[in-house]
Amino acid sequence: MAHWTETAFRERPDVFRRHLEDKLAEATAETEDLLALLADNGVEPTTALDVACGIGRHAVELADRGVSVRGIDISESYLGRARERADERGVIERATFERADMRDLGDRTEEYDLVSNLWTSFGYYDDATNRAVLRGMYDRTADDGALVIELVNREGVLADFRPAGVPEDGDALVVESADYDPETARMETTRRVFAETDGGYDYEGEMVYDVRLYAPAELAASCREAGFADVSLYAGLDGAPLERESTRLVVVAEP
Ligand SMILES: C[S@@+](CC[C@H](N)C(=O)[O-])C[C@H]1O[C@@H](n2cnc3c(N)ncnc32)[C@H](O)[C@@H]1O
Repeated sequence: MAHWTETAFRERPDVFRRHLEDKLAEATAETEDLLALLADNGVEPTTALDVACGIGRHAVELADRGVSVRGIDISESYLGRARERADERGVIERATFERADMRDLGDRTEEYDLVSNLWTSFGYYDDATNRAVLRGMYDRTADDGALVIELVNREGVLADFRPAGVPEDGDALVVESADYDPETARMETTRRVFAETDGGYDYEGEMVYDVRLYAPAELAASCREAGFADVSLYAGLDGAPLERESTRLVVVAEP
């Protein structure tokens, strides 16, 4: 059976694409926060590798601010849209997009001031593979650079666990159901999307994602195990302090 990432992002990319497009509205603020957070940590990137870049939400914004960015992703469909967006923004000479798998980062040789992995794009594989992905991101981070990971905080999610919900998503109706397994610390979520029509809704399709959730201390320890010397934790890219029930987790890890 195909891994869920193949099904969700390569075989049926359109179900999630709507969500990616809606999140474009937040990309400018997130990127400005990201650069400010890096500056607070003494890093002013001129080169960046955005791992699992999707439609280039952050890559295009970074390029617009003078950073030379390479975005990698497994979805040709999303990469095509990323290139189109970079072209429209007039930053295509500073933003390149490549089909590549985060599990192969260790095979590359180049290094970047910033390696980013944003919007819960980590934890997709078994624990050993996730550790290898982290090690690959460490290998690609320049000595005076930083890795930034932004993802859900397990402790915050479990403090207010919602097995079902109807999150807002533009003009679509989205119905989500989630299941958390404490033995594996994985959360499997099924997202069913219904597009709004004149008289009601049309079923568009569903997406299942199965993500390993991390507690902050656990992910920080994994970063140190991967080789990072300094690890700072926040509740968001805006640098908000991490609290027990923060729903997001941001890791800034420096070699
Ligand atoms: C939740 S989206 C985040 C996209 C982007 N970072 C953003 O903030 O908009 C997850 C992305 O991970 C990509 N992805 C999944 N598995 C991958 C892998 N093994 N290597 C590279 N990208 C992957 C998907 O195609 C998708 O674009």
